[in-house]
Amino acid sequence: MTRDPRYDILFEPVQIGPVQAPNRFYQVPHCNGMGILRPKMLAAMRGIKAEGGWGVICTEYCSIHPSADDLPHPYAALWNQDHIKANALMTEKVHEFGALAGVELWVGGASSSNLLTREVPLGVSSMPDLSGNPYQTRAMDKKDIRNLRKWHRDAALRAREAGFDVVYIYATHSYLLSQFLSPLHNRRTDEYGGSVENRTRLVRELIEETKEAIGDTCAVAVRMAVNDGAGTSEQPVSEDRREMFEIMAELPDLWDINVHNYEREMSLSRFFKEGILEESIHYVKSITSKPVVSVGRFTSPDTMVSLIRKGTLDFVGAARPSIADPFLPRKIEEGRPEDIRECIGCNICYSGDSLGVPIRCTQNPSMGEEWRRGWHPEKIQTKGSDATVLVIGAGPAGLEATRALGQRGYKVMLAEAATELGGRITQECRLPGLAEWGRVRDYRVNQIQTMPNVDIFPDNNLNAEDALSIGAEHIVVATGSKWRADGFGRYHSEACLDLGPGDQVFTPNDIFKGRLPQGKVLIFDDDHYYLGGVLAEALAKQGVEVCFVTPENLVSAWGVMIDEQYQAQQRLLHLGVQIITAHGLDHFDGANAHLGCVYTERTQVVAADAILLVTARTPSDHLYHELAVQIDSDFPGSAPSLTKIGDCDAPAIIAAAIYAGHRYARELEADVKESDVRWSE
Ligand SMILES: Cc1cc2nc3c(=O)[nH]c(=O)nc-3n(C[C@H](O)[C@H](O)[C@H](O)COP(=O)(O)O)c2cc1C
Ligand code: SF4
Repeated sequence: MTRDPRYDILFEPVQIGPVQAPNRFYQVPHCNGMGILRPKMLAAMRGIKAEGGWGVICTEYCSIHPSADDLPHPYAALWNQDHIKANALMTEKVHEFGALAGVELWVGGASSSNLLTREVPLGVSSMPDLSGNPYQTRAMDKKDIRNLRKWHRDAALRAREAGFDVVYIYATHSYLLSQFLSPLHNRRTDEYGGSVENRTRLVRELIEETKEAIGDTCAVAVRMAVNDGAGTSEQPVSEDRREMFEIMAELPDLWDINVHNYEREMSLSRFFKEGILEESIHYVKSITSKPVVSVGRFTSPDTMVSLIRKGTLDFVGAARPSIADPFLPRKIEEGRPEDIRECIGCNICYSGDSLGVPIRCTQNPSMGEEWRRGWHPEKIQTKGSDATVLVIGAGPAGLEATRALGQRGYKVMLAEAATELGGRITQECRLPGLAEWGRVRDYRVNQIQTMPNVDIFPDNNLNAEDALSIGAEHIVVATGSKWRADGFGRYHSEACLDLGPGDQVFTPNDIFKGRLPQGKVLIFDDDHYYLGGVLAEALAKQGVEVCFVTPENLVSAWGVMIDEQYQAQQRLLHLGVQIITAHGLDHFDGANAHLGCVYTERTQVVAADAILLVTARTPSDHLYHELAVQIDSDFPGSAPSLTKIGDCDAPAIIAAAIYAGHRYARELEADVKESDVRWSE
């Protein structure tokens, strides 16, 4: 297939200072939980994106000196020769496919506590660590500033030696340089503080010195926000910033533009739509003649084209769309945009960095496995035999297993008890803000429907006899899980039987089925991820009076890992939901919920007509066990292999279900040895 001429503009080369990008697809800096700890994994992951057609591929934030250390969040670094070699692994892979490699030189300021290096963090002033660690920065004196400028220049030279084509001055995201720019943080009284010109001085010096050091061969880019946190978060542009852009407009070779509010920039689909930054960033191109890149969870080629035609952007910036589908550009180029695996805006990818472990992605199970398991997002080994595989359950695990088995060439039969495919995805994507999650189902169903070797059987609630009578050589059970109605979870380590009349006790499954509580509802969230908060939102929006109780100190506490928590709590507060933290539900008598404080022996009573329990799930594995018994007893002839995957095996996040389905498909009848997995590089 050939590409649609409407998209030709996306494939035009663009000059960035002394280098030329082969097209307009630009992977902006994004971390991945690998960084300095796992350079080979990292290089393979970036290389796959180059193969997939991204024209510019950047590192994550890359420390210039041991005084900028962010462990346990793994970052890149260019402190020495070893780091040059590690980064060269990435640039070589990127160059192999004709893309440019960019590096985002980084200084942490009050956002890095240097827990590995034990260097004193340097700050625009003496201020507390912004990530909450009990440290404070040293206010940089003139010598510190001179040192910083030298370290930055040296790092730029090392970047060139490592093979980078684009070198960033990183002046946003609350790190040191943005603190110098900020009227809120920069209270200096010397020539680096006060007026707009003074606050801009350090960034301007770094641009000029980087250009002087490497500007003949490398492009110099600046990442900077259009606003600065002063005023309201909704205010798109601040005048202060506009003046800064005007002062520096022509200095760098490229502007990478974002906004001060990271939650808006790394927008969850629950709260923001594709292209949310457009209104804020569009003015920058009227100030500079240099190419501009920005972001917005772009997955639609039509949106990309329109932003370029409108003169808002020169490059389509993407972090998450390139994670969910490293081959997004190639799919557009090859005239098959319907094959794009669109990001769903869930931010699970961000949790890797937050937790200090390699990245994972809900949509793309090969993300982070390119090196250690040798998984390619588009290629897969052909089938091991002419066997037939019966997949039972069309939730995320079953759909992904079916898709990948079908891609391998197996004859696959997918049986689903419900009329609609998608399992928990179909249920959850109807909740407020989660519509884009339906892409997890839609991508897979669309792919499967084009495969002649895959048959789908909805409305087929198989029992063990039915399943075995089909005669498949392999049976994989992906029947999901159900929310528990007995209070068991982290707070109650055994079933809590004192929960009042059954018709006043609800679980998320009841809500999915349309069985809704009446009167005032108390939600007991002992799950701590999104669902309790989203259900509270759903009920509150229907006019139900909701009290949200959690043993954690925050609403949706795990959301901290994915930049969701603050917005989740804010949303409930705006909706007038009563929030009681640090309490568990001890019992419910049909009229009152009795709560226990997690710190003391104190209790409190809250009137409620119903309780909704979001605590833990039970795997729906009856069919699996029935099959196991029948296969293990007197099975006539050769017995099929039997496996359970996804929530039916161990309830977890959707990304884990997709991964389980994918892994099953990859490893079926394949010679895979656990000892071959490259865990440590
Ligand atoms: C997992 C992850 C890690 C990120 N790490 C960085 C980083 O190291 N440096 C940076 O400037 N931005 C980082 N970002 C922000 C992205 O560059 C980008 O601005 C943001 O994700 C919005 O773009 P998108 O909608 O295309 O994902 C990160 C984003 C994600 C999702
Ligand atoms: S984890 Fe979610 S947000 Fe991140 S790239 Fe994948 S689908 Fe998008």
